[in-house]
Amino acid sequence: MSAGEKLRLGVLGSGKGSNLDAIFRGIHEFHLPAEVKVVASDVRDAGILAIGRSHRAHSKYVYPGESRAKLDPDSERNMVNLLQQEHVELVVLAGFMRIVGPQLLAAFPRRIINIHPSLLPKHRGLRAWEQALAAGDSVAGCTVHYVDEGVDTGDIIAQAEVDVLPGDTAESLHARIQEAEHALYPEVIGFFARERPFAG
Ligand code: GRF
Repeated sequence: MSAGEKLRLGVLGSGKGSNLDAIFRGIHEFHLPAEVKVVASDVRDAGILAIGRSHRAHSKYVYPGESRAKLDPDSERNMVNLLQQEHVELVVLAGFMRIVGPQLLAAFPRRIINIHPSLLPKHRGLRAWEQALAAGDSVAGCTVHYVDEGVDTGDIIAQAEVDVLPGDTAESLHARIQEAEHALYPEVIGFFARERPFAG
């Protein structure tokens, strides 16, 4: 990759894909020097695949295998092959609901990032905004971090805070956090695209 080329992204998700949508907006409206080479999901009818297709990105369901928490080894190999065929330089997890396994980590060392809806290291795991409400936090937010073998444990790259307001419900707080995600993720990807902070 040389300076001036667009950063080649592979985006993995299991859900509705609002962060992918924000990344496309960053590319189309704010000239983020990146391109989405492939969108992959472990959920056949995930909204993220429909968003990928609507932007004419290569969008593919990858059969996850029998395990619930991760991809089976064969499936993980298929995912690695798909990303490598597209010469992906940065793997962007956007609501990918499985633990990333050793084949992906080995194929993309320090090149897999995730966005999590809390101010890590607080509130790892599922429905983090509910954890923030239950804890009585006055500030919540989101974190972009490198992915390692743990769950939401990798080195933190960037965070954005949002206030928890009186009367907030899980839904209203989650919506505010997602709005912050949609600004933060494209910003971080822009940083990767311009600075190329990759080893080797
Ligand atoms: C985001 O809230 C992100 O923090 C979490 O999964 C959600 C994905 O949402 N990891 P979407 O599919 O991008 O709308």
